[in-house]
Amino acid sequence: MRIFVYVRLVFCLCSVNIFGRMHSYCVFRKSPLWGAASTGLARWLPAEYEDGENQPKGWNTSQYSGFQLPLVSLSNKIMHSSSMAILEDSAYSQMLVDWGQYIDHDISYTPQISSQSTFSSGRDCLHTCSNAEPCFPMQVTSCLPFFRSSPTCINIQTDVRPAGQRQQMNSVTSFIDVSTVYGPSADLEKTLRNLSSAEGLLAVNSEYSEDGQLYLPFVSVQPSACLQEPGTGRVLHGRVNEILPLSVLHTLRVREHNRLVIYQEIARSSGIPFNFILIYTFDEYLGPYAGYDDSVNPSVSNVFATTQRELPGTPLVLCSSGGLDPVLRGLLDRPAALQNQEHLMTEDLTQRLLVLNIPETLDLAALNLQRGRDHGLPGYNDWRAFCGFDRVDTRSDLIEVVGSGVLVEKIMDVYGHLDNINVWLGGLLERPGCAAVTAETLLRYSHTVLHSSHSYTWETRFSFG
Ligand code: HEM
Ligand SMILES: *[C@@H]1O[C@H](CO)[C@@H](O)[C@H](O)[C@H]1NC(C)=O
Ligand SMILES: *[C@@H]1O[C@H](CO)[C@@H](O)[C@H](O)[C@H]1NC(C)=O
Repeated sequence: MRIFVYVRLVFCLCSVNIFGRMHSYCVFRKSPLWGAASTGLARWLPAEYEDGENQPKGWNTSQYSGFQLPLVSLSNKIMHSSSMAILEDSAYSQMLVDWGQYIDHDISYTPQISSQSTFSSGRDCLHTCSNAEPCFPMQVTSCLPFFRSSPTCINIQTDVRPAGQRQQMNSVTSFIDVSTVYGPSADLEKTLRNLSSAEGLLAVNSEYSEDGQLYLPFVSVQPSACLQEPGTGRVLHGRVNEILPLSVLHTLRVREHNRLVIYQEIARSSGIPFNFILIYTFDEYLGPYAGYDDSVNPSVSNVFATTQRELPGTPLVLCSSGGLDPVLRGLLDRPAALQNQEHLMTEDLTQRLLVLNIPETLDLAALNLQRGRDHGLPGYNDWRAFCGFDRVDTRSDLIEVVGSGVLVEKIMDVYGHLDNINVWLGGLLERPGCAAVTAETLLRYSHTVLHSSHSYTWETRFSFG
């Protein structure tokens, strides 16, 4: 069997440093801020805030199409309609899932407001059940904490957003530029590099190594933001910790950097911009590359960042668990956990999710839904229309799309009205192979934008096998 992949070298000609890469503002032919770190996510449809400008949907007890929005925790009625046994996907390995998360993290990181307490009265967001900026807690029996995403202050008016409307930002560049290895900002890059090495090495863990192979350094902040090991600070940087396979992929990339740097010492002196190599399988997915299009804003869209999320995974232990190889072998060998309408998310994610700073275990489905409201994201039906599909106007329309009367009953019990269905959840519930698959269309469109909007691209074809 021959497998074709694109190997793509991306050169960026601005603020080239020893690492030969850009952080934020770049020479894009049309707008230098497009796709830059810490600028707004692109809006493909105008936001729908409760007050038109800023308040999340569901902030007050407003009604939408005659129904109050359901508690986000009620999504479990739909998620848990499934049998909990984890089945195996017959086509894909687990690596596909984790690679997806790794790439997502390279192109989008929506920062949350860093204040832990309400602006008005200083109440701790971890212990409040009422909505007061920046806390937007999720009611279960008590309340689970939720922090609103930061609004952006750099306003590039290139999209459909009415002036003054709150917009969320992307703190990393929208390009696949290995910001997961070098950091999306010059400041962070400094902390990730080994500044005492003349060769341009990345910093490594000073306490652990595996037969001379390096691990990522622990963060030096004490106590760290991660509560998995309180007070020790022994965690990796930021989202790298989210799940074990993700930490493994990051570690692998840093090892590769240091290996190439040592090997390629000569490359630096001869001025070759040894940037980065990305392996895409875009040709299979999108068809042939049609060239650079300077009318396309590459900024990751708000709907991408709030919907293209999550497939199943596992918890973290790395340095003490036999190193990278067993995990990597597992990722390549093991089938992905099957994700379908009966298996939407594992209980690990809906009941036992751990995130930085929050002592309680969270529910990722509820978080995704609440994030959609925080961002004023239009509903599933509006995104169907955006994708050029008919809206679902009746239950039987929805049964056609979802393929299950029982599931549609549950959806309608929770939401009351078809227009109120969240786009991430609606997308997840679509029957695969249905003629009008909104989730797939949005994903494809996002990748087309990403593919055609980078002005310094060189591609070639290799074949293996
Ligand atoms: C299976 C283990 C995973 C866990 C525990 C996890 C956890 C999380 C959490 C806690 C968030 C932030 C939620 C919020 O507050 O809004 C998030 C965001 C996100 N996740 Fe995952 N995730 C997992 C897998 C994945 C996978 C497989 C993908 C993609 C294929 C993915 C893509 C994303 C994206 C795009 C975001 C939003 C990024 C941003 O703009 O900030 N995740 N994830
Ligand atoms: C939401 O409720 C607050 C306080 O009850 C009120 O001041 C505000 O005007 C309401 N906003 C909307 C959009 O109804
Ligand atoms: C930095 O590099 C030097 C070798 O050049 C090495 O001895 C040292 O351990 C490295 N430090 C870190 C934090 O990676």
